[in-house]
Amino acid sequence: MKWTTHCAAVATAMFVVTSLCLSPAGRADDAASPVFGVRLPEGYRDWRVISVAHEAGSLNDIRAILGNDIAVKAYREGTRPFPDGTIIARVAWKYVPSDENNAAFGQAQSFVPGPATNVQVSVKDSKSYADTGGWGYGQFEGGKPNPSEALMKTCFDCHTRANKAYDFVFTHYAP
Ligand code: HEC
Repeated sequence: MKWTTHCAAVATAMFVVTSLCLSPAGRADDAASPVFGVRLPEGYRDWRVISVAHEAGSLNDIRAILGNDIAVKAYREGTRPFPDGTIIARVAWKYVPSDENNAAFGQAQSFVPGPATNVQVSVKDSKSYADTGGWGYGQFEGGKPNPSEALMKTCFDCHTRANKAYDFVFTHYAP
């Protein structure tokens, strides 16, 4: 027992030291989106569902819009503008027919998520992101932020087209 505790302590210390030693300058930024410094939020995959959507055309994806506790509470209570600390994550996958399900039923009607495309994140922080309506943005592929500054500029530009009363957010709560 004592030995295990000792080992755990040593392992933790080594991990911390190793992490510090291996972190070249700027590595922290490598995990954050350009312009806004938004990171993929921890545990977002366990967040609650706000809504789902399907984009046709070249995107041809199926998506789920998830929110942290602050986002879900604001949605359910109709609080606008969204309070600071709100985070909304949009996860998306290619929209593909399920050969497996279709074979089972003899009908081509089942569509399911294929490979993941990207995760887009909107973070509300009215002070840090005052120039963009209080929203910071990030797009992540395979867990890594897309490094394009140009892409980051498109987010708010397009989200200003959402109804003003909804605080630059398109998605409504799906009951
Ligand atoms: C051309 C317009 C357009 C651009 C550019 C765009 N979005 Fe959106 N976004 C939408 C629309 C429309 C929806 C709602 C429907 C959907 O999900 O397809 C949406 C939904 C979202 C959502 C779910 C919450 C909400 O606002 O409805 C997030 C999060 C999001 N976008 C983040 C981003 C990020 C981050 C970027 C930039 C990398 C971005 N968006 C760029 C149009 C856009």
